[in-house]
Amino acid sequence: ELGMFTLDPGYVNTAACRSAITYLDGEQGVLMHRGYPIEQLAEHSSYLEVCYLLLNGELPTQQEMETFKDNLNRRSLVHEHLDRFYTGYRYDAHPMSIMVGVTGALSSYYHEAMDIQDPEDRLLTAHRVIAKMPILAAHCYKYAMGHPFVHPRYELTYVENLLNMIFAVPHRPYQPSPVAIRALDQLLILHADHEQNASTSTVRLAGSAEANPFACISAGIATLWGRAHGGANEAVIHMLNEIGDPKNIDQYIAKAKDKDDPFRLMGFGHRVYKNYDPRAKIIRKACHDLLNEMDTVNQPMFETAMRLEEIALQDEYFIERKLYPNVDFYSGIILQALGIPMSMFTVLFAVGRSAGWISQWLEMMEDADFRIGRPRQLYTGSQQRDYVPIDKRG
Ligand code: SDX
Repeated sequence: ELGMFTLDPGYVNTAACRSAITYLDGEQGVLMHRGYPIEQLAEHSSYLEVCYLLLNGELPTQQEMETFKDNLNRRSLVHEHLDRFYTGYRYDAHPMSIMVGVTGALSSYYHEAMDIQDPEDRLLTAHRVIAKMPILAAHCYKYAMGHPFVHPRYELTYVENLLNMIFAVPHRPYQPSPVAIRALDQLLILHADHEQNASTSTVRLAGSAEANPFACISAGIATLWGRAHGGANEAVIHMLNEIGDPKNIDQYIAKAKDKDDPFRLMGFGHRVYKNYDPRAKIIRKACHDLLNEMDTVNQPMFETAMRLEEIALQDEYFIERKLYPNVDFYSGIILQALGIPMSMFTVLFAVGRSAGWISQWLEMMEDADFRIGRPRQLYTGSQQRDYVPIDKRG
């Protein structure tokens, strides 16, 4: 018995770690954070409240939430010298390449002064990561646009600040719509944590060596960038743009099924979900509602996406392999409807996931039994043999 779930011994032996933060059942399509179903959190909670839940294990009281917000606000400044880091990147650098660098560079501002053996320093680090990620992310967009950096304002909420830091410019007023704020808040909730995915496992492994936590988060960002992982949301839009008219769908389905063709249907399949990704269901409805409310031009792309989903879900190849749409299939359409450029999609995934990364880092560091991670291998190389001098070879 591990907590409220009985895991068969085989699973326990192969489990990478113990965690009480997220429960995921790939066969049933179940996702819960600290016991709360993702469907309820997406409908009733806020990203900041989910951050508190992931970090502390319980939903906050009104007072605890106010204190948490205040703590994050007080950590929401980034040293001016870090702004200079951006100018070292090529003018057209992919924002994820910048995020890897500047997040890693934060470790230089919090190294000697931080004692990861001290519980208070660890929690302070967690607050710093959650508070600073939106700023680093927004600065990436501003650097790409050649616009002045915008800094967070105390009176704005977390998501209002994120949108304001991305889109506000000195020469005209900017006020994000409540629809956009809610859509982005929900998207961050759905990306907050997801058990031991590749990027979270990277953060845990780096953290188990007692590396600087900001450097660990940077390693997580590097991992998330891969198109098989968080980079898929950007790849889905490229794919939908390439498909264009729904009449072209069949030829792309055929490509995806062709063993000799490296093309994969982006936004489909999952290492764990062999049922519908519960987040995809939520995002699909949010996407539909948003496009209707914003009456945006993405409607044709959304229609193509829904038609592609409908055809794939009826195709034997996908049915046999239990390939369903995942969280990335619709998230890109929402982000595009919000005016977020494609190059920033995975950056926003990283902002959302930073709460999960740092919560799992904190959980590991607080586990008295934790030791350095050391995955093993199945050796497939040569049996033992003796050295042969070069003049005796060949
Ligand atoms: C995320 O781990 C997480 O939790 C990740 C994530 C999170 O929140 O952190 O959920 C976020 O990364 C979601 C996944 C985003 N990636 C994509 O959408 C990229 C496209 N998907 C594929 O690359 C693939 O499905 C993976 C990488 C997601 C999973 O790869 P697996 O584990 O190899 O897939 P599988 O074992 O289920 O594959 C079974 C079969 C194979 O064919 P056969 O060898 O049986 O003939 O299905 C095929 C695969 O080749 N297959 C696909 C496919 N995905 C799997 N064929 C066509 N298109 C696809 N998308």
